[in-house]
Amino acid sequence: MAELKKLLILPGDGIGPEVMREVKRVIDWLDRRRGVTFEIEEDLVGGASIEARGTPLSESTMQMARDADAVLFGAVGGPAWDHLGFANRPEIAILRLRQELGLFANLRPTIVYDPLVSASTLKPEIVRGLDMVIVRESTGGIYFGEPRGIETLPDGQKRGVNTEVYMTHEIERVGRVAFDLARKRKGRVASVEKSNVMESGLLWRQCMTALRDAEYPDITLTHVLADNCAMQMVRNPLQYDVIVTTNLFGDLLSDLASMLTGSLGMLPSATLGTVREDGRRHALYEPIHGSAPDIAGRGIANPLAQILSFALLLRHSFEMESVAAEIERAIVRVLGNGLRTQDIMATGAARVGTGVMGEAVLRELEKAPA
Ligand code: NAD
Ligand code: IPM
Ligand code: MN
Repeated sequence: MAELKKLLILPGDGIGPEVMREVKRVIDWLDRRRGVTFEIEEDLVGGASIEARGTPLSESTMQMARDADAVLFGAVGGPAWDHLGFANRPEIAILRLRQELGLFANLRPTIVYDPLVSASTLKPEIVRGLDMVIVRESTGGIYFGEPRGIETLPDGQKRGVNTEVYMTHEIERVGRVAFDLARKRKGRVASVEKSNVMESGLLWRQCMTALRDAEYPDITLTHVLADNCAMQMVRNPLQYDVIVTTNLFGDLLSDLASMLTGSLGMLPSATLGTVREDGRRHALYEPIHGSAPDIAGRGIANPLAQILSFALLLRHSFEMESVAAEIERAIVRVLGNGLRTQDIMATGAARVGTGVMGEAVLRELEKAPA
């Protein structure tokens, strides 16, 4: 018998556990109706782990993540822990997971589902049919560059420092992910940086051009300055298919892009590492949103980004494309039936909470033939 796939679930803080609960119902459906069983472990992470163990990511959790075939992550952070130093904050958990598992390519698919065309704050004709992917570099750049810190100068002034730094190999490996993806899509990549003011951005641009020339002559590569890209994304997002960019710009542009689709609560992500010699690779899946302290505990968060993240996990880590697509179709049908959480609410639609939305996805899945 084939070995069971190992799945590690880390719900985290705030709305993390609330939206993860709805994924667990989907996992239960897979088990009951499709006979698909995983070896599942669940653990604390972020603020929840700080409260229980005094650390946002314990060594044993890190080891579980290394051993897993895939990690499904919720969200971490919140005002209760904002006073902690950087080494101890909940957010260090996700940063360490990305870095220590070598998860350098963060794919953020940005799809406007037809029923949600008018949920965007942009005009329907601007966003209808949008289907792009932001490939965000996720283990380098200013998030991890040295030197960093806050120092006190002799005159009492303080100085805060972060460093944007990229090496050739870091740019090339994320570039290959974007170019390979473009080959399966429309053959176009937009590379985004600030080469007009930053040396790391200039190197980024040079490396992307050299890589395209050497290995991907069939791909059309354009270079876009990050500020212009933000503007273009709201002016005419349909011009983009695959975007590849740095850690910080990718963070900003993907939150912006989420509003093209209707809500931050709609965007999933997959963060992938290198394919190793045994053919396996580490991978972590999470919604792009955070712990949403402003709505946590009220049962109103949109669980769809978390469920869509699980669908990406099935697609990219468990070779279960058809089930992944089935879950995505079920979500579109639920939206088509007019169910809305408050973040995507529209006139005439039925406003529901997290649990009812999850239940509705489940009902659609139950309808499909096994
Ligand atoms: P956020 O993404 O948590 O929330 C931004 C806004 O979007 C809020 O108004 C929130 O209510 C809304 N929102 C987010 N997800 C939603 C959902 N699923 N359904 C409905 N509405 C949703 O960002 P923030 O408020 O800037 O950050 C809150 C905390 O989360 C911070 O501590 C931050 O560091 C952390 N954070 C964690 C992650 C992560 O764990 N991957 C990602 C982003 C932010
Ligand atoms: C994200 C988040 C994280 C990031 C934080 C929580 C460290 O905003 O995944 O988009 O900045 O990468
Ligand atoms: Mn972010």
